[in-house]
Amino acid sequence: MLVIVTENYDELSKIAAKKVAELVRKKPTAVLGLATGSSPIGLYKELIRMHKNEGLDFSKVTTFNLDEYIGLTPDHPESYNYFMRKNLFDELNVDERFINVPQGMLDVKNIPAIEEFCTWYEDEIKKAGGIDLQVLGIGVNGHIAFNEPGSSLGSRTRVKTLTEETRKANVRFFNSEEEVPKYAVSMGVGTIMEAKELLLLANGKGKAKAIKATVEGPITAMVPATIVQMHSKATLIVDKEAASELTRKYEGWIV
Ligand code: GLP
Repeated sequence: MLVIVTENYDELSKIAAKKVAELVRKKPTAVLGLATGSSPIGLYKELIRMHKNEGLDFSKVTTFNLDEYIGLTPDHPESYNYFMRKNLFDELNVDERFINVPQGMLDVKNIPAIEEFCTWYEDEIKKAGGIDLQVLGIGVNGHIAFNEPGSSLGSRTRVKTLTEETRKANVRFFNSEEEVPKYAVSMGVGTIMEAKELLLLANGKGKAKAIKATVEGPITAMVPATIVQMHSKATLIVDKEAASELTRKYEGWIV
């Protein structure tokens, strides 16, 4: 696991974008796993800039998003479908047919329909040849995608109940806590671990504990992000604040 500590969020975003761009240039048909949340917004802005100014071509790229709230239509401003369109897809030349964001309009009580959707999503990833590079954020409680503490480390795409902590952290995007969905459909920890490469981004003091646990803590389902320690090609890009609780720190890069 490579941990890159940056001066600030801007630097973090630029290093992350460079990595994604390198892959897309080397493999124009790359399969990208994408995340939502505030952490990757700078990365997406930089990719848009590279597309517009440097001709970075996404026309043959396939994308799979990690998760989606249950109960929000794709045009709901807080849905992850909408987020991805506004913050990335609308500004790039990604082919509509190659964009995959999980379906949020699922009935949590309809188990067969949920299972059918989740199996289909996993199959689509396989059919695309697997994810080449998965971008990840991290929750304050160490969740990745919506794999909350206690999620099985081998889990596959399924429905998850959001913790109160996560709902509170995400209330800033909604008008009230009641409006924050209670459930989400999310790639599993096992699904994420099958990506050929992982790129986890974290910034700000609020993420310092989760980053310390992820880098230095024991691997545990109670902090799902700790599983990245087992990945053969994982890079964490964190700003100084998110890295502030790491004990094994050297000038520049930490390996
Ligand atoms: C959400 C998402 C995660 C994201 C996390 C952190 O709960 N499901 O994919 O990584 O929040 O979000 P942020 O980057 O806004 O801190």
